[in-house]
Amino acid sequence: MEIIILKNAKVGSEVGGKIIADLIEEKPNAVLGLATGSTPLMLYTEMIKSHKEKGLDFSKVTTFNLDEYIGLEKNHYASYFRFMNENLFSQINIPLENINIPDGMAKNVKLHCQEYEAAIVKAGGIDLQVLGIGSDGHLGFNEPTSSLASRTRIKTLDEQTREDNKRFFKNSEEVPYHCITMGIGTVMDARTNLLFAFGENKATAVQQMVEGPVSAMCPGSVLQMHPNAIVILDEAAASKLSKIDYYKWVYKNKPEWQIY
Ligand code: F6R
Repeated sequence: MEIIILKNAKVGSEVGGKIIADLIEEKPNAVLGLATGSTPLMLYTEMIKSHKEKGLDFSKVTTFNLDEYIGLEKNHYASYFRFMNENLFSQINIPLENINIPDGMAKNVKLHCQEYEAAIVKAGGIDLQVLGIGSDGHLGFNEPTSSLASRTRIKTLDEQTREDNKRFFKNSEEVPYHCITMGIGTVMDARTNLLFAFGENKATAVQQMVEGPVSAMCPGSVLQMHPNAIVILDEAAASKLSKIDYYKWVYKNKPEWQIY
């Protein structure tokens, strides 16, 4: 795992935006895995900026989102489909047919999940997966005790996650109980995983993910087994790491050609 600790979320998102822009320039038909929630919002702003100001071309890019709530229509104000459209897709030149988000209204959820996995394979696999982490350590909506080998499937949201996410809904009763999420095995298949965590409320999850044992109790910790996982943190999210000085030292002393 490469741990990059930066001054704040804005600088972290700029570095992340550059990693993604470099990938798309090198591979115009890159396959991106995307996340929702508060964490990637500034990253998406950076991607939009790269498109509008530097002409970064998304016309051949394909995307797969991590998850979606079950029971929400695409145009529901809190659906992840709508979130992605508002915060990214409507502002870049990605063709609609290149966008993949689990369908929360799928009649046959099991079949839909199998088809989602097959579509990722057909697209050539995910080059770079954007991730956030839940305050309970979840990746995607893979809550603690999820199988570390899991694939895309239905999951029941933890009470903590429903509580954390109620800010996106009009009231807490509206927060769905179920979702479709890529599995941890699906995330581990991505060639690069790029995880962002900002703010003090992520500090414990980040400490367990980076320095704790690999355990289904903290799904994020599985990234310790990934050959190319980059973790971008602000000072607050990094505050509980015991080897914080070491991570900063490593980043400061990276050979110039390796710096993002
Ligand atoms: C979102 C997702 C979740 C979030 C996590 C953090 O698609 O899969 O794992 O990344 O819940 O959410 P925020 O960024 O809102 O703190």
